[in-house]
Amino acid sequence: VRRQAAAAARIEDKNQGQGNKNTNTKNYSQTSQRANQTKLFPISGVKKGDRVAIYLPMIPELVYSMLACARIGAVHSIVFAGFSSESLAERIMDAQCSILLTAGNIHTHSHTHMHTHTHRHACINKKTSSSWCESDYLQMAPLCDPEWMDAEDPLFVLYTSGSTGKPKGVLHTIAGYLLYTSLTFKYVFDHHQDDVYWCTADIGWITGHSYITYGPLANGATSVLFEGIPVYPHVGRFWEIIEKYRVSKFYTAPTAIRLLMKYGIEPLQKYDLSSLRVLGTVGEPINPEAWMWYHDAVGQGRCPVVDTFWQTETTLPFFGVLPIILNEHGEELEGEAEGYLVFKKPWPGIMRGVYGNQECFENTYFKKFPGFYVTGDGCRRDKDGYYWITGRIDDMLNVSGHLLSTAEVEAALTEHSAVAEAAVVSRPHIVKGECLYCFVTLKDFREFNHSLMDELKRKVREKIGPIATPDFIQNAPGLPKTRSGKIMRRVLRQIARNEKDLGDLSTLADPKVVEVLLSQRCEAAA
Ligand code: WT7
Repeated sequence: VRRQAAAAARIEDKNQGQGNKNTNTKNYSQTSQRANQTKLFPISGVKKGDRVAIYLPMIPELVYSMLACARIGAVHSIVFAGFSSESLAERIMDAQCSILLTAGNIHTHSHTHMHTHTHRHACINKKTSSSWCESDYLQMAPLCDPEWMDAEDPLFVLYTSGSTGKPKGVLHTIAGYLLYTSLTFKYVFDHHQDDVYWCTADIGWITGHSYITYGPLANGATSVLFEGIPVYPHVGRFWEIIEKYRVSKFYTAPTAIRLLMKYGIEPLQKYDLSSLRVLGTVGEPINPEAWMWYHDAVGQGRCPVVDTFWQTETTLPFFGVLPIILNEHGEELEGEAEGYLVFKKPWPGIMRGVYGNQECFENTYFKKFPGFYVTGDGCRRDKDGYYWITGRIDDMLNVSGHLLSTAEVEAALTEHSAVAEAAVVSRPHIVKGECLYCFVTLKDFREFNHSLMDELKRKVREKIGPIATPDFIQNAPGLPKTRSGKIMRRVLRQIARNEKDLGDLSTLADPKVVEVLLSQRCEAAA
């Protein structure tokens, strides 16, 4: 942490230049020697309660930075390194971050935006040997006293898609979050001192926050931190790493399992997976084929598969969490049932708010069924009392375990000058779980063709990031709307999925619209 502090102190303060005495290394080292008590980020002036944006790939510096923030009481706001510069800028502004920690080797394009939106940024250039400036390390005091914090002080903000299109900054506080990530890690993965644990998630998502950084480290666990993808340089990468480090607890997502399943069991057979004890899955509903393959081929029939349902907002349902199922009228259903998944009581790891927007917090999670935390997921309880998550029932999509809102993709599409209106729905995808199917209505005299499709895809990638790239884009001369002008997404979803029976269309203002869309639906991906 000490080293990282020094590194983070290497601030390139391009925006200021107004002669702030504390903004160069020389002054800093003098101050630190004098002060004898070191606080992190002393040059930047980051202090308790300040927000720090972190935009880093899966390198150890990412973990150090989080812990450094926690140590000095700063609130980290990590932005997944795969997000676009616009997404980054939006999040920096929303949380009013005063500093950005990033790596010089990612997204050079983003740097132009950074300057306009943050006061300062520190560059961590991992790929060069001079990373984080050796001379700074040496000048650091050996100890940084922790900032004393209240149990309910904020620990971090992490953005998740909002149904209005604007991402919301989910706020977690110190004690409840740490208690919960620590305990759930310990019990759900049956942690023991001699375990080697590996979670393949990216720290840019909540899974990485909770189950790479805080949960495992609070337990003193030995973990693998992996920067890379499952199929490079070869498709046995995961299995190779499990063998190499004798991984005993392995935590990944259904989308990764489905991807690796495609290559059969041969790549698995080349490696010794006998160290595995527990397998975890998270992020989206796991389909039976993927579950069976995970259990039989990866776990060799020997390892329990723990399917962990939770959300950026919740942390694992666990001791003290009471899931129940409600019907449309908010009545609790008993026994075998299907309906809305809600939680009946608060628990330590529940989110504490939406950063800077209490109203959004109340409306999103507590308004539909007052008195309950509403997950936005559908759920079925079977006769044995098991809960089966059936997927999102709001305007959210789950692409490879990443939540996106239809509204944010629509907003990106309609930013293109040719687009008058857009509606986005999900369609099942063999690897991603769900993918995006977009209907676009063009402005008069604009032509729908391949180059426009490419432009639209690029637009979405630039606005949101590569994970949101549409798989299907259909020209929609008109969209199915009710007489009051509300887009009937159910109908669009059915068209996208090629369902023959479109159900009740009597509320449609113009039924002909549907016929046109049906006749032109996309068979193959764009
Ligand atoms: C949504 C939350 C939890 C970290 C990853 C995503 C879906 C998550 C499961 C699971 C079925 C799941 C839900 C949930 N989801 N885990 N094991 N089975 N669905 O965090 O981005 O906040 O997304 O992901 O729809 O509401 P998130």
